[in-house]
Amino acid sequence: MKAEGEKITVLTAYDYPFARLMDDAGIDMILVGDSVGSVVSGYDNTLPVTMDEMIYHTRAVVRGTAGALVLADLPFLSYQVDLTEARRNAGRLVKEGGAQAVKLEGGENVAETIRSIVAMDIPVVGHIGLTPQSIHRMGGYRVQGKKEEQARQLIEDARAVQDAGAFALVLEGIPAGLAKEITAELDIPTIGIGAGIDCDGQVLVIHDILGLCEKYSPKFVKQYADISGTISQGISDYIREVKDGVFPDEDHSFK
Ligand code: KIV
Repeated sequence: MKAEGEKITVLTAYDYPFARLMDDAGIDMILVGDSVGSVVSGYDNTLPVTMDEMIYHTRAVVRGTAGALVLADLPFLSYQVDLTEARRNAGRLVKEGGAQAVKLEGGENVAETIRSIVAMDIPVVGHIGLTPQSIHRMGGYRVQGKKEEQARQLIEDARAVQDAGAFALVLEGIPAGLAKEITAELDIPTIGIGAGIDCDGQVLVIHDILGLCEKYSPKFVKQYADISGTISQGISDYIREVKDGVFPDEDHSFK
């Protein structure tokens, strides 16, 4: 798709119904992101998400997917300690979760880990720039690569991830010009989130584009629907009808 200039579409999903809807709509790839911790579990960040939680959500997404490639995140502390743990946990996402590929955060510092997982025939996607698992080092969710030295390091990181055998690279929260340069430099496709128009594909969090997440909305999110309003209306109508003795009526009762 990169060679043919066809943009790659990616959205996150964490359950069966959303996976089915986006798969039916023709999405290319579904990411079972560790963002599940923020948008579904209500944590302040992605750090508490466990392997068992990722496997549970990945299984649900896989059951709702027929055509899209399902990619699952390796959560914090599942691949940083040593290669044996990293390989076992990548394998669990494939064996127990049913994922077709795994994603992990980092550049040169995780190149050996990527190489080791790829050697098990598990396809890997890299993720550099604003990497949410490094929130405490970054001092918050801040755009990365604005300074020249940082930008140079990100280019090195992108090369290292590609050389280690990753088949795609997520670029998150970096200046559009830098993302363009990295995309031109690499043979593998880049998938941008807050990284401008020149990436080979785009990914967004499903709860953000549907207006389901009111806690925090970054500048790069475009809201395509307001599902919160529809859900709140439906719930209010139900509560009112039960309180008023209107529901259940004859049509919704057995004779
Ligand atoms: O966890 C996630 O949803 C992600 C995307 C934001 C790229 O990693």
